[in-house]
Amino acid sequence: MVGMLTRVGVQCALFVALWFVFLSPDSPYARHKVQSHGEASVQVALAKDEFSWETIVPSETLNWTDCYFGHQCARFKVPLDYSHPEAAFATIAMRRVRSIVPHDSPEYRGPILFNPGGPGGSGVDFIGGLAAPIATIVGPGFDLIGFDPRGIGRSTPRVSFYKSRVERELWGGSGQSANLLSMNASADALARSWARAIVDGTLAGERDDGSLRFITTDHTARDMLRIVQAHGRDKLQYWGFSYGSVLGATFASMFPDNVGRLVIDGVVDSENYFAVEWSNNLIDTDKTWMTFVNGCVAAGPKGCAFFAPTAAEILENVDKLYASLRARPIPVRTDVSFGLVDYSLLRRTIFTALYSPYGRFAPLAQALADLSAGNATALFKMSELPAFECACDPSMYRFESVGEAGSAVLCNDGKRIPQDYEGVLAHYKKLSATSSWADLWEPVRMSCLAWPDFPKTHFQGPFVANTSFPLLLLGNTADPVTPLWTAKKMSQGFAGSVVLTQDSAGHCSLSAPSICTQKYVHDYFVDGTLPPPGTVCPVIAGPFPAVDVETGMDAQAILTLSAADRSLLEAVRESSMNFNVRFPGL
Ligand SMILES: *[C@@H]1O[C@H](CO)[C@@H](O)[C@H](O)[C@H]1NC(C)=O
Ligand SMILES: *[C@@H]1O[C@H](CO)[C@@H](O)[C@H](O)[C@H]1NC(C)=O
Ligand SMILES: *[C@@H]1O[C@H](CO)[C@@H](O)[C@H](O)[C@H]1NC(C)=O
Ligand SMILES: *[C@@H]1O[C@H](CO)[C@@H](O)[C@H](O)[C@H]1NC(C)=O
Repeated sequence: MVGMLTRVGVQCALFVALWFVFLSPDSPYARHKVQSHGEASVQVALAKDEFSWETIVPSETLNWTDCYFGHQCARFKVPLDYSHPEAAFATIAMRRVRSIVPHDSPEYRGPILFNPGGPGGSGVDFIGGLAAPIATIVGPGFDLIGFDPRGIGRSTPRVSFYKSRVERELWGGSGQSANLLSMNASADALARSWARAIVDGTLAGERDDGSLRFITTDHTARDMLRIVQAHGRDKLQYWGFSYGSVLGATFASMFPDNVGRLVIDGVVDSENYFAVEWSNNLIDTDKTWMTFVNGCVAAGPKGCAFFAPTAAEILENVDKLYASLRARPIPVRTDVSFGLVDYSLLRRTIFTALYSPYGRFAPLAQALADLSAGNATALFKMSELPAFECACDPSMYRFESVGEAGSAVLCNDGKRIPQDYEGVLAHYKKLSATSSWADLWEPVRMSCLAWPDFPKTHFQGPFVANTSFPLLLLGNTADPVTPLWTAKKMSQGFAGSVVLTQDSAGHCSLSAPSICTQKYVHDYFVDGTLPPPGTVCPVIAGPFPAVDVETGMDAQAILTLSAADRSLLEAVRESSMNFNVRFPGL
């Protein structure tokens, strides 16, 4: 789920080139920033002189100002506390990519709101990066609106547990080391993370100016309704990814009569989320990992740099790398930064690659091959961050996305959990029994251990409704953090909703290229048609390049596509290379 865009491996020229194309419309200073403690969500923060949000006067109407290149931005005033709507306000930062058709045309279909997951992800960054392929998918009739949910990024009040960027960095709050440990890295890793989480929760309470308790999914759902109403409409059109499915399901349950079109993609079990269980996210993680392993075998030595003739041999070779890094971490110096490649970094790099197979499997294979040969540079670069810099002036990082904003949402949303270590240990043991990736997931829940004791009066379910228009749920057969099972479970609560299955690895539909899936998404938004129940969509090719050639679409097949399908093909290819939301990030 998450808001997360990514840390980029500079060793992969193609990937980086695409990534920069992806960001450059915003700013030559595009930065990739990872945040946070346990639940770290990696986000793009645009430093230095990005378009200045401070110059926009917050307004209760939608007052669009030109921003970035050809987009419009607004800061929309909403009540901070909907039970006391006059008391204080929050401002929601919004970025619009205007429909190609004029607003007075009968072809105009209104705004679609997007949430890129996390929680803590920035919709402003998201729509900046993916507007082109998404506009191709949904067609020219819609305004595409990315907004930073309250508490996050450029929306105010902003969540921050730390007095300054430097304080966050010194504590490791920006993510490179202590807080992104594998719980299996050492005998005391779990206990240390437990203790750190208590410090974070304590700081959250201590540094709260009174606004923290209002950073909830319930309030963000109300904000979305206000945004819809400010457009002179009463029905939401929405596409939410990962955590964005919690937001979408919450909206649909709270405001069933205000659903116009609602797509939730990479579906989270909202009940499990609000219970702060985090216990059923990893059901398909090993399956996703095996698509890397088996895909590498199938791709052959030309398609996969980490090739071995059998899956068992590849797994054995990875185990050797784990053991070797446990015994001897490798020091790395690059032209950007320096650090160690150790067991935790390897675990984390593999896990995050599972979110985005098309962008990351081939580079991961190369990095693992290099590592086997004793060169850890490529692997290090897959997770490398820009060297930390102090802000030259106070406004420079003013609207930076910070990881603790994600914790604020998920801890406020959820019920209180006991703080004792024994409880954490028991939870970890249970989670470990469900997945071999529990070592990276346990910290998500721990971020709520010492959370301030706010009243829990907000909406927390049930997630059931007869909505004014049926929901479309999307699930991949091998999604590392939002298993298909969850989409099917959540669908049961929403009358008439349909689950569309995409037969691919990766997190959310856009992480893999499927013309079939995105045609259904298009038809849903434009015509309101739902896929027949039980529909399974294929992807156009596998994640390793050699597989493309052998079993993917060949040149002949592409020639027979209609012009519309060919541009859709380009769109799904582009999104699969760039789409990288985190849930809840690492
Ligand atoms: C709209 O925005 C412009 C520029 O930020 C500002 O001058 C104007 O007062 C705003 N209008 C309203 C109604 O808020
Ligand atoms: C290690 O790999 C990097 C590419 O990731 C390369 O630039 C560098 O020269 C390699 N180092 C050695 C010692 O081979
Ligand atoms: C933790 O590490 C040990 C030693 O490498 C290994 O035997 C065990 O399977 C690992 N457990 C998990 C959950 O990764
Ligand atoms: C939906 O409508 C059905 C049939 O009218 C009704 O039985 C059910 O209770 C409704 N569900 C909700 C959540 O309102």
